[in-house]
Amino acid sequence: MILILGASSFIGRHLFQAWGPGKALGTHRSHPVPGSVFFDATRMRLLDTLPRPSQCSHAVICYAETKIDACKGDLLRSSELNVRSTKGVIDDLLRLGIKPIFLSSEYVFDGEQGHYTEEDPPNPITVYGSQKLEIERYLAQHGREHAILRLSKVLGTDPEDGTILSRWFTQIRQGEEIRCARDQVFSPIHVDDVVAAITAVIQLNLTGIFHVSNPASCSRLDLLRMLLEHLGEQEAAKRLEEAVARVLREGKSVTYDLKADRNDPSAVGTKEMADAIIAQLKTVKVSIR
Ligand SMILES: NC(=O)c1ccc[n+]([C@@H]2O[C@H](COP(=O)([O-])OP(=O)(O)OC[C@H]3O[C@@H](n4cnc5c(N)ncnc54)[C@H](OP(=O)(O)O)[C@@H]3O)[C@@H](O)[C@H]2O)c1
Repeated sequence: MILILGASSFIGRHLFQAWGPGKALGTHRSHPVPGSVFFDATRMRLLDTLPRPSQCSHAVICYAETKIDACKGDLLRSSELNVRSTKGVIDDLLRLGIKPIFLSSEYVFDGEQGHYTEEDPPNPITVYGSQKLEIERYLAQHGREHAILRLSKVLGTDPEDGTILSRWFTQIRQGEEIRCARDQVFSPIHVDDVVAAITAVIQLNLTGIFHVSNPASCSRLDLLRMLLEHLGEQEAAKRLEEAVARVLREGKSVTYDLKADRNDPSAVGTKEMADAIIAQLKTVKVSIR
């Protein structure tokens, strides 16, 4: 039996669905999913919640405050959930003889270098990333068997799932303006692949740190272009590509990383570059629909 702490999370829901109530025991705090049990990590102890001896061999720690801004915005609250309660949960899991599988994040890195391996030293620059790293170190200090999966951005393809593609899908269908970063490069991974990776880690009883991400990387703008192409909006995708190409060719309204000299004082911020691309989009004559 596998314990999913936070079976109501985006990833937890997919895990619970894949494994089913026969193989998994799931918890929720405010959003019950069929078969899940109530567990508030900040107010309850696992030792008091789980039957002893537990039938669980592994526990996937999915619950967390996952919004980067919310972690920074309310340090006490996010630390209470992401650090204090998670340490308590880990203590209880180890006492119960259950192996913790902790879902960490690429945010343990500062993002400067990219293409990180498990051997690279972490250097978080966000509160969320620091909280993830604190738990990774806590697990290491315990010296007991555990697995840490550092996930990149996780996507779904269900139009209702609230992830980046589904939000864009809705915006495209409703003809709304989409603003997205050209300079944020990431390696998004599909939630089904995350489920497959976690399942493999458990089935093979792997121990250690594992990076789980798409092997390729792209900017948010590239991803949007791919989505437009996939939806058959070839013209809109082409317009977007052309507008970006024009701004790059002109070289005026581009960010410092696109200047020959990174210290070029004429470099603009990402907002100005996005505005220049939008202005170009308005001058290209092909229509979206
Ligand atoms: N999604 C991603 O792109 C991504 C990327 C990298 C790493 N991760 C990590 O993967 C894990 C799952 O992420 P996610 O995006 O699937 O999460 P999510 O959808 O944001 O869900 C958060 C979960 O935390 C639970 N929770 C909140 N407060 C709680 C409390 N006091 N006690 C117990 N549970 C509580 C929520 O339960 P209720 O809804 O029932 O209240 C929910 O199940 C997280 O650790 C996240 O940091 C996610």
